[in-house]
Parts: sequence; structure tokens; C-alpha cells
Amino acid sequence: DSDADPAVRRLDDWDAAELRSLADEYDTPAYVIDLDRIRQNYRRIAAAFDAAFDDPTVMFAVKAHSGRAVMEALLDEGAPMECAAAGEVFRALRAGADPDEIQYTGVNPPDDDLDYVVGVWEDAPEMTLNVGAEDSVERLAERGFDGRLCLRVNPGIAAGHHEKVKTGAHPKFGIPYDAVPDVVERVRAEYEMDVVGLHAHAGSGMLDEDMDAHAEYVGKMGDLAREVGDLDFLDIGGGFGVPYRDDEDPLDIDAVAERTREALGELDATLKLEPGRYLLADAGCLLATVNTIKDTPETTVVGIDASMTTLIRPAMYGAYHGIRNLTNPDAPVEPLTVGGPVCESSDTFCRDRPLPRPERGDTVAIGHTGAYGYAMASQFHSQPRPVEIALEGGEARVARRRETFDDLVRLEE
Ligand code: LLP
Repeated sequence: DSDADPAVRRLDDWDAAELRSLADEYDTPAYVIDLDRIRQNYRRIAAAFDAAFDDPTVMFAVKAHSGRAVMEALLDEGAPMECAAAGEVFRALRAGADPDEIQYTGVNPPDDDLDYVVGVWEDAPEMTLNVGAEDSVERLAERGFDGRLCLRVNPGIAAGHHEKVKTGAHPKFGIPYDAVPDVVERVRAEYEMDVVGLHAHAGSGMLDEDMDAHAEYVGKMGDLAREVGDLDFLDIGGGFGVPYRDDEDPLDIDAVAERTREALGELDATLKLEPGRYLLADAGCLLATVNTIKDTPETTVVGIDASMTTLIRPAMYGAYHGIRNLTNPDAPVEPLTVGGPVCESSDTFCRDRPLPRPERGDTVAIGHTGAYGYAMASQFHSQPRPVEIALEGGEARVARRRETFDDLVRLEE
């Protein structure tokens, strides 16, 4: 039912009265995460790839949001957890994942991470470990690993919303494309492990304009998988984007799945993918309160109680996030510069953006914070991390409590 599952959800689609009452009840800054929307997003992308492929696996890239409530909802939908660090494996297990539902992808994995994941694998022989360097295979063997191995490939093709999130051509990630057949041959000859899959990830935040690069990338990975042969799966990573701006269009995910199939060609292995942003971005928003308004000769500065420590994406990637005044939506529009309480100029959510001029005490919502929002929050500037409120079945509950000043000093000896 397309009405029940709009393929795009804009910041304006959130219920203002409901968000205002959440801000009143739980105080701000507050992350809101809508678990029902996450489930819708999962079902939509899973259905699209199910229609195009035989038995594909749509995992969840845990790095986008490693909170328990989110993982529980996605595990309930049947999504395996794609974990990029031992800590993510730990959290996925704690959220109820069966180790067999976990795929570990280590990038330059530290010894302690390998010790931990091999320890988990010892009791769960179906767990797949994925590494992107020949010496990491060696390091797994030293730990007695002889299970299901996936090799990460550097496909030499990248895409995404910003240079900093394009991984497909960056040397840090994966075995260089042309070297992969020889590496697979050596691993098969010299180690007990089963090379069951190849993996790559082009980058994050792809929209329509990236789909040619996506098709080229998928085609290249298909060619490599056919050359290597005898694989259970090909994992093409994540990266599917969501429009953060009102004038951007959503991906037609059915068409994307179909194009992926055409680009891939015939393959005697199943397809895996591991979206993060696509599942979560539009399922979250961040509530904040206007603390101060200052007219300057250049602009009007609006100070809110969320900052770059709450949501770092604007500071880090210049990322656009919509801002909506929930209290005074019809106030006269002026160019506003919205920032937080942190002493650096990167702590700015927008510069001279036409928005309704708020009053002190107004509640604002910042859009598309479900992915890489709370997950990248920090305590810099001694800002306790905010509360996170989960919405599910028409009910709101605290998924993570707000940190206190005591939490800031808790680990100090
Ligand atoms: N798989 C691998 C191996 C990845 O490295 C990533 C993301 C994903 C899957 C999920 O990508 P997604 O479907 O979410 O695009 N902090 C940045 C995004 C970094 C993404 C890193 N890798 C941001 O806020 O834009």
C-alpha cells in the first residue's frame, strides 16, 4: 500500500504537535527514532531486491546506528547485522543477534578485534569474517580461524555524497581489484578457510546521479566473482541514499534493484547488500530548543541547544539537514544562521538559510538524523550526549537515557 509506505519522508511530514510534546516531556536536545519507519524502509528495499534476485540477503550496516532498539527492530525484520568492529559485534549479540546472523568486516582490524571475533566464531561456525588484506587473512589463521571467509575488494570505482565517504577507490579499503584472483587462489591453496564471498562498498549517499557509477561498479564486481568462481555470495555493500533536501528525488528502489541485476549479469552466487542510511536516515530527527537570537550586520544568528557534538554531519561533510520551526512555523522568513553552543565555527547547522524567524524557547526539528546521527555523537566540549526516544506502534519510550555530567567523568581515575 503506497499510502502507508511513502517512498520518501520529508521533515515536514513529521507531526509537529507530537514532536513538540516529546520535546516538552523529554527535554532537548533529543534524538527521535521511528522504529516503524525503519521497518517500512527495510521491507521496501528487501522487497525490491527480492523481486530482482533469487534469495538475496539485505543486512544492516550497524555503523549507521548501533543502538539496541534499532538492531532489535531490524533483527525482528530478519536483517542480519553487518558489523565493522568488534564493538559492533558485541552490541549486535547483546541486541539478540545470533552469531550466524553477523558478518564482520574489519578495516585494518586491531589484534583485539580479531581475538574477539574469532572467539565469537569458535562457537558459531557459520559466522562470516570479511577482511581486505592478505596479511589479515594470515592474522586470522594465526588465531585458528578456518571458517567462512569473505574478501573485501577495492573495485576502483567510488560514489557518494562527499569525498570523505567514497571508499571504492581509496587504497585503505580492500584488496586491489586486479590482485584479487591471485589472492583468492593463494588463500584457497594455503589456508583451511573457505572463501565464500567477495565484498566491496563504493561509497555512501548515492542518489540517481550516482546510478551509472553504481551499475559500472556492480558489473565489475560481477565479472570478478565469475572469474574467481565457487562463491556463496557477492556482497555489494551499502550506499543507497535518501533525499535530505526537499527538491531532491528519492531513488526508485525497484528500478535500482532491477538495474543492479542487469549490471551484474548471471551469477552462480547470491547477492548480499548492507544498507545503513537507506533504512534509517528519514526515520530520525533531532529536537532542539532556541536559546538565543542575535541580529548582526551580516545575518541573524540563532543559537540552539544541539551542536556539532550532537550531530556532526554538517561540520564534517558540510551536509545539509533541514531545519523546521515546530512552534512558530508561520513567522516571517529571514536568512538565519543556526549554530550550537560549541566554540568553533564548524558548529553551524546552516548559514543564511531562509527560515521562519524563531522566538526564544521555540522547538526546532532537524531532519534526517536517523543514520550517522547519534552514532557519531561525542562528548566534546563536555556536552553530555542527548536522550534518544524510540517511536513504535504509536508509543514513545526512552531508548537511551540522556547522559549526565557524572557520565562525563565516570571513567576518570
Ligand atoms: N558497508 C560498508 C563496508 C560501509 O563502509 C558502509 C558505510 C556501509 C556498508 C553503509 O553505507 P550506507 O548504506 O549507510 O551508505 N558518516 C558518513 C557515512 C559513512 C559511511 C561509511 N561506510 C555520513 O554521515 O555521511
